[in-house]
Amino acid sequence: MLEVNNIDTFYGKVQALWDVSLKIDKGEIVALVGANGAGKTTLLNTISGLLCPVSGTAKFLNKRIDGLPPHSIVELGMSHVPESRRLFPDMTVRENLEMGAYLLRAWKQKEETLAQVYELFPSLKERKGQLARTLSGGEQQMLAMGRGLMSRPKLCMLDEPSNGLSPLLVIEIFDIIQGLRDRGIAILLIEQNVRQTLEIADRAYVLENGRIVSKGKSKKLLQNDHIKKAYLGL
Ligand SMILES: Nc1ncnc2c1ncn2[C@@H]1O[C@H](COP(=O)(O)OP(=O)(O)OP(=O)(O)O)[C@@H](O)[C@H]1O
Ligand SMILES: [Mg+2]
Repeated sequence: MLEVNNIDTFYGKVQALWDVSLKIDKGEIVALVGANGAGKTTLLNTISGLLCPVSGTAKFLNKRIDGLPPHSIVELGMSHVPESRRLFPDMTVRENLEMGAYLLRAWKQKEETLAQVYELFPSLKERKGQLARTLSGGEQQMLAMGRGLMSRPKLCMLDEPSNGLSPLLVIEIFDIIQGLRDRGIAILLIEQNVRQTLEIADRAYVLENGRIVSKGKSKKLLQNDHIKKAYLGL
């Protein structure tokens, strides 16, 4: 579904990603693990077209996407829920959701998708007329995810969806992510909760200083000594 090959990404003259390759198959949850500043967000931004790699290629559903503008990549069926959530604070919950469906393919199915998002996030339905800025942190995260789903993605990339949430809400977000996979949506997941993430992910990549240093089945990585020491606090 997604195939990233040998990507190098720079901020000006400073290189942030070095020869990064990654793939995601249909129906998979793939985790991207790494310390602060490792380059996780940079990699997501490169895939979703917000940053342009200096070398390397990215293919989505057999189409080259490196160099395409972000909206064209969304239209192909990829959505990106950014770390900062980027909601429209003075718009209602419903209006924020509708903004996620502004491209042609999704707009036609807007009402149907909205009903599915409300089913997945009942608290958004209850608050559909409320301004986004009046929501709690957890509800705002759900709104950001719901908006990402409004484009009817085949692949959804989530950048630290549980950041700043209470332990109970973290569990809820992880349940929802598994529910998305069950609906056939592939997930690329960045998370600080490494253990929980590896427990729900099929495979994972570990990024250190802009390079992939290990990859494999999540269950295997949970047993890996370096991963245990560096990310699981064992
Ligand atoms: N806009 C930018 N301009 C210049 N350098 C940047 C920019 N954004 C990130 N960087 C640098 O690129 C590197 C990777 O940052 P990135 O945000 O991708 O890491 P991350 O793994 O997402 O970290 P975190 O866990 O803190 O979100 C860091 O050294 C960072 O300082
Ligand atoms: Mg980040």
